[in-house]
Amino acid sequence: MPSERSTPGRSTLPICVTTIVNGGAGVWGAMPMPPMPAVGDDALQQIVAWLTSGEESERSD
Ligand code: HEM
Repeated sequence: MPSERSTPGRSTLPICVTTIVNGGAGVWGAMPMPPMPAVGDDALQQIVAWLTSGEESERSD
């Protein structure tokens, strides 16, 4: 579970994987994110690649 908000310039990969599989709470407000243990490795890899591709293109500007 993330202990602080994601910030530009810091790798968010472990935060993404943990949050997608286990869910999370308390970072952005009172609403929790439910755990999604059924997300397979292939889907997880695609989701994280998509999320971090946005992060990388933002950095290269
Ligand atoms: C494939 C689907 C999903 C992906 C990839 C995803 C990804 C993420 C990630 C990476 C975070 C962490 C953001 C951060 O800490 O900066 C997050 C947080 C959150 N997600 Fe999701 N999520 C998904 C589905 C959902 C669903 C279905 C719900 C609600 C029904 C949801 C509700 C939330 C909430 C409320 C937070 C903030 C939790 C907090 O304050 O700690 N997410 N999500």
